[in-house]
Amino acid sequence: MDKVKNAKKNNKTIVEKYHGEKSSLIAMLQDIQKEYNFLPKDTLNLLSEETEIPLSRIYEVSTYYNSFSLKPQGRYVVQVCAGTACHIKGAPKLLSRLENELNIECGETTENLMFTLKDVRCLGCCSLAPVIKVDDHIHAYLTEDEIQGILENYRK
Ligand code: FES
Repeated sequence: MDKVKNAKKNNKTIVEKYHGEKSSLIAMLQDIQKEYNFLPKDTLNLLSEETEIPLSRIYEVSTYYNSFSLKPQGRYVVQVCAGTACHIKGAPKLLSRLENELNIECGETTENLMFTLKDVRCLGCCSLAPVIKVDDHIHAYLTEDEIQGILENYRK
């Protein structure tokens, strides 16, 4: 019950911050994503009630942008670049090592909600290939053997 109360309170704060403006839907979704690390279904229902934005529109926007997730995300989101430059320089091996180390497949989240593993088309820093991005930090010129150490740093 407290969870529901908190969700309502957090939603009201977010809606009030943007004066319930329908044009601020993306900003409100970003705030919700930041608060929960994903977009909980109940929260989206409340957002729809409070702003009178149709739920179908909220889901349309939520599923359009890669930065939003409808499933719980790990504390750290590990993105492996699957662009051409990174692919040529060994990104598939990095992805495979990450899947083994985390014991999940690409697109999944570890059971302890510590890591989510994703692949992305290009992280925009091809000259540093191959790269992975953990939250906002780019790890460049990466080799498979560095993966374990990088994960350990985030586990601390
Ligand atoms: S291909 Fe990897 S950053 Fe562009």
